[in-house]
Amino acid sequence: MLGNLKPQAPDKILSLMAEFKADTRQGKIDLGVGVYKDPNGLTPVMRAVKAAEQKIWETQNSKSYTALAGEPEYRDAMAGLVLGDTAKGRVASVGTVGGTGAIRQALELIRMANPDAVVHVSDPTWPNHLSILNFMGQAYEMYPYFDNETRGVAFDAMLDGIKRAKKGDVVLLHGCCHNPTGANPTAEQWNAIAEVLEQTGAIPLIDLAYQGFGDGLDEDAAATRMIAQRLPEVLIAASCSKNFGIYRERTGILMTLTSDDKARDLSQGAMAFLNRQNYSFPPDHGARIVSTILNDAALTQEWKTELEDVRQTMLGLRTQLAEELRTLTGTDRFDFIQRHRGMFSRLGATPEQVEKMKQDAGIYMVGDSRLNIAGLNRDSIPVLARAIVEAGV
Ligand code: LMR
Repeated sequence: MLGNLKPQAPDKILSLMAEFKADTRQGKIDLGVGVYKDPNGLTPVMRAVKAAEQKIWETQNSKSYTALAGEPEYRDAMAGLVLGDTAKGRVASVGTVGGTGAIRQALELIRMANPDAVVHVSDPTWPNHLSILNFMGQAYEMYPYFDNETRGVAFDAMLDGIKRAKKGDVVLLHGCCHNPTGANPTAEQWNAIAEVLEQTGAIPLIDLAYQGFGDGLDEDAAATRMIAQRLPEVLIAASCSKNFGIYRERTGILMTLTSDDKARDLSQGAMAFLNRQNYSFPPDHGARIVSTILNDAALTQEWKTELEDVRQTMLGLRTQLAEELRTLTGTDRFDFIQRHRGMFSRLGATPEQVEKMKQDAGIYMVGDSRLNIAGLNRDSIPVLARAIVEAGV
């Protein structure tokens, strides 16, 4: 039976990780997978996370099952972090296996609620969105997103694309720090997006994987909160992998907002059911770290300080890279790197140019020319800038 399986195409981001590892060249630079690295190239455990783990170790006296939906302390704390107090009483939620698990559960929930829904996704989007949609046989359409000339959002085309969504369809939006481009709508443009959603009756599914990596914790949640206030039904898939640096703990949450209690309770029941069908209880350790931090004022402060350091480091790297390219090219055509937000920027290079940078300079970025800004440091930026120019980008 198993011999009948078809070989699966490897995930592009994850296979790039393996390729980088196998490269024996000194000075190779990893700008692939979206993992934060400090100036020494390390992905350290945050101090607040260590302190929370110590507290858990000291006080936890059982590893027995928790709630099928995940611990209420975690889910409430995450609702507060993401939504502030904009959606009190409207939230149903379940802990999930990372942000990816939240996306997967959201799509399954949509399929249960409306099998005819078409999911509208940005072109481009995180490749795994498409992979999951394809695997599930979920109908989807792509709306234009990126303007390769300006390296900003192709906003008019985006809006026209979203207008094609029908009542009961779903529009997948990146709440902040768009992956893979780094280009994001302005506050005014987000308002226009919300207006189109109101007009069409399509339901937003917001993927929020990088809250705190763009303009700040509240700033990065502003679009989500505005949409939460305006739209009757909203789905939110949030990840703690990046902002708490707990990638391998697989800590995520799926939240739904509804306009009446009946739909909220049905949604809560359906999401808990989906957890049970797919993996029973969601992972607890990462969720417990998060709730321990968010329910302790001193730990929250410590975590916010560390997260702000991470954000400022990435902004500094963006500024340095843009300046370096300004000097090398004598133009401002790479200034978009400074305008982009989050971990990624799409350079706008061709696959051949990306390959050349890998072959000639040992620089690994995803084939669509997405680079992980956090993979850079002061010393590697001049190397990258030179490689970009030499590749003719
Ligand atoms: C990325 O886009 O690099 C991250 O979200 C990691 C992943 O799982 O692809």
